[in-house]
Amino acid sequence: MSDDLKKQAALAALEEIRDGMIVGLGSGSTAAIFIRELGKAGLKVLGVPSSQESARIAEEVGVSLTTFKDHPQLDITIHGADEVSPQLDLIKGRGGALVREKIVAHASKRVVIIVDESKLVDRLGSRTAIPVEVIPLAAPRVLIQLGNARVRERNGQLFVSDNGNALLDWNHGAIEDTAGLEKQLKAMTGVVDSGIFAGVASCVIVAGSAGVRKLYRSSM
Ligand code: A5P
Repeated sequence: MSDDLKKQAALAALEEIRDGMIVGLGSGSTAAIFIRELGKAGLKVLGVPSSQESARIAEEVGVSLTTFKDHPQLDITIHGADEVSPQLDLIKGRGGALVREKIVAHASKRVVIIVDESKLVDRLGSRTAIPVEVIPLAAPRVLIQLGNARVRERNGQLFVSDNGNALLDWNHGAIEDTAGLEKQLKAMTGVVDSGIFAGVASCVIVAGSAGVRKLYRSSM
């Protein structure tokens, strides 16, 4: 995804933000551009970050932060994504922030996803491995249960999430039942959560060569 398309999607998401809103701040390169644009816009909002990195960027650009303790209900969350299905279900978590991203998304009245058109797929899982965050102790057992998965590394070291956990990347292949697989993963002992986000996105903003379009979940 080019930085220009990321910025177009981020600017379209900015149009959804109003003074006084509590805003969930996504993680990853596209969400980072959104946070920087939010800072530049000077809107009077409070952000709830989904990662240490998002918090750092928000502080750098002057977006004030809050917590669930003070604001348990968010107005809107802006997230990137790795894959988006025609039903607007998602795979997220290539950046490793999936657990906090899911918590922030589920606390929001609306979840707006910003992507370029390369992230649109016919079936989730066809291109991207499913990230699965696990308690480190359980990682070897969950690996065996999943089968075609590997432990994520970064710079030759085991990747450690903001929550102190390990990440497994599961090469599942095309997913038949997205919501069912999300529940199945969540039910495995030692799994904290997965990067499958079924039924979470209210709107997906897609930037492409022909411009920016907004896709809405049909049942919402
Ligand atoms: C972070 O953990 C991820 O869920 C990101 O939202 C996702 O990987 C998209 O990242 P980019 O915007 O960098 O493509």
